[in-house]
Amino acid sequence: MSDFSQRFSKGVRNDWETPDDLFNKLNDEFGFTLDVCANETNKKCEVFFSESDDAFTKDWNGVCWMNPPFKYTKKWVIKALGEAQKGATVVCLIPAITNTHWWHDYAMKGEVRFVLGRPIFKGAKEGLPNPLAIVVFTPSNTARTRQGQAAPQFEVFE
Ligand SMILES: C[S@@+](CC[C@H](N)C(=O)[O-])C[C@H]1O[C@@H](n2cnc3c(N)ncnc32)[C@H](O)[C@@H]1O
Repeated sequence: MSDFSQRFSKGVRNDWETPDDLFNKLNDEFGFTLDVCANETNKKCEVFFSESDDAFTKDWNGVCWMNPPFKYTKKWVIKALGEAQKGATVVCLIPAITNTHWWHDYAMKGEVRFVLGRPIFKGAKEGLPNPLAIVVFTPSNTARTRQGQAAPQFEVFE
């Protein structure tokens, strides 16, 4: 098992930083105003929430970037969906664990882009073998799926 995937599965590190090319492509599209989980070193926006702020105790506003500690993905995805239903746009980089209830109950309420390949997080020697997805929650797409209308959109992100 690679150094990264071993640390990933054991949850030793929770601060793997998004590769610039992946983030910049999405930032060009969405124009992020808030990084909801970061620290002073790995923040992707000037405005961010850190562990000591505790994003779960905050309202999320504007256009939010979320690359959460993967060990707690379900909790973060539930929070992201709830904040989108209150008016935020939240773009999430998460593991695509498609056989879980949380994936079906929450992640699929957004627009899903399956990431092609293995992005190499900053400081890692190689890409994570686990599949990743970009999930986009907006006020309109979460309202639509909440009303049982229109199937979610699936795309490829490369
Ligand atoms: C995977 S890193 C993402 C860093 C950066 N946002 C990025 O995209 O590269 C997750 C970050 O979430 C922070 N974090 C952990 N728990 C948090 C919480 N409850 N509220 C806000 N940030 C938290 C960690 O300290 C870590 O820096």
